Amino acid sequence: MDTKDSNNSRVFIDGVFDLMHAGHFNALRKAKKLGNELVVGINSDLDCYKLKGCYPIYNQNERGELMKGCKWVDEIIIGTPYKVEKNLLDKLNCEFVAHGDDLVLCSDGTDPYNEPRILGRLKVFQRTEGVSTTSVMARIFRALGLELGDDILPVNKLDRSVSFSMREGLSNSGINKFLDGDYSPCQSLISVSRVISFASGISSTKQIYSLNSNVTYVDGSFDIFHIGHLRFLERVKKIFGGILIIGVYDDATTQLIYGDGFPILKMMERALTLLSMSVVDDVIFGVPIKITNKLLETYKINHVVSCKAIENYIRPEYIKKNILINSESLGDYIFKLEEFCYEVPRRMGILYNAPILRDDEICTNHDIFSRIIDKKDYILDIIKKRWAKEINFYSDEKNSKLSI
Ligand code: CTP
Repeated sequence: MDTKDSNNSRVFIDGVFDLMHAGHFNALRKAKKLGNELVVGINSDLDCYKLKGCYPIYNQNERGELMKGCKWVDEIIIGTPYKVEKNLLDKLNCEFVAHGDDLVLCSDGTDPYNEPRILGRLKVFQRTEGVSTTSVMARIFRALGLELGDDILPVNKLDRSVSFSMREGLSNSGINKFLDGDYSPCQSLISVSRVISFASGISSTKQIYSLNSNVTYVDGSFDIFHIGHLRFLERVKKIFGGILIIGVYDDATTQLIYGDGFPILKMMERALTLLSMSVVDDVIFGVPIKITNKLLETYKINHVVSCKAIENYIRPEYIKKNILINSESLGDYIFKLEEFCYEVPRRMGILYNAPILRDDEICTNHDIFSRIIDKKDYILDIIKKRWAKEINFYSDEKNSKLSI
């Protein structure tokens, strides 16, 4: 007998959710809309290893913690099986499982959603174009100066599936153009309506700024949002209360600070991830690198906190030739950068200088990129395999429309 309760509106979504990006958060947002409560199953590190031959960059606890920070998530379970069966949905009291329309297979080639599919308990939504863990990994490789090799381009598949003009462009400009979005796997098309959907729950300007006299501001690139960022923002909110506004640097500013290849993600993709976090009350797009009086007055900011110590990855060769600040070492660079960016709030006495996180809680961009450098051969292997899959997916006419 089917034990599911037809009035139950809990929805289950599962996945790896590695290097969490706006495509994942859009999936959570869409899945949440299918019911009242969203339960997220996170594939364990070991299961990912068995399936892909490499552990995820973010471990299962970090992926769980990031999920917990997301405003559309009600419950998290770490280590749900890759194959989603009726029994699991019943046990979790979920009526449906939701998944994007990209094809996924178990290691034995079977459909992990076969049972709920047959029972009419699988809801499929449109996958978000332009961002994937694979494309993020490939962009990180380029930013870190790691060799991607020409053979990441699956030329045979392209020859079959894309138009002549695309092949022409590919041969002329190579990997850079490919990664930067002329070809569908990496091209985000973010509409105002998507931004509005992500901003749901954020109060109007009048409500948040006129009724609240306690406003804290944190600025940064927030490129590759990781557990260090989330812990930092949650702690800042705990210390100051009130409302937390995030200033996101535009792409040119991020490149100026971190060097060629950065940002990994375009400003709007980075902003959407921030808007997915419960802790964030507002986001300002494209803020000035040097905080101005005007910015502080406009948003009635009374605390400023720097997260430059979290966002600390600079390639060694870039430190000395950085045109913004001439430095000898990473520590010196971060110190001078902070002096430069926060001069005004420091003078006004509103810059908070005490450490935000304990040593054992800190996770920085440098830590995340070091993990990638350590596993680079395995990751390259995954990029090559998955890239072909993505190109095939998007070259299919029915998948090429914009995801709303
Ligand atoms: N998802 C999506 N849009 C994306 C990426 C993922 O809608 N651009 C959805 C997937 O379809 C799935 C969920 O997010 O329902 C979890 O994805 P995950 O298991 O991390 O799958 P991957 O496909 O491996 O993610 P990616 O393609 O980013 O590697």
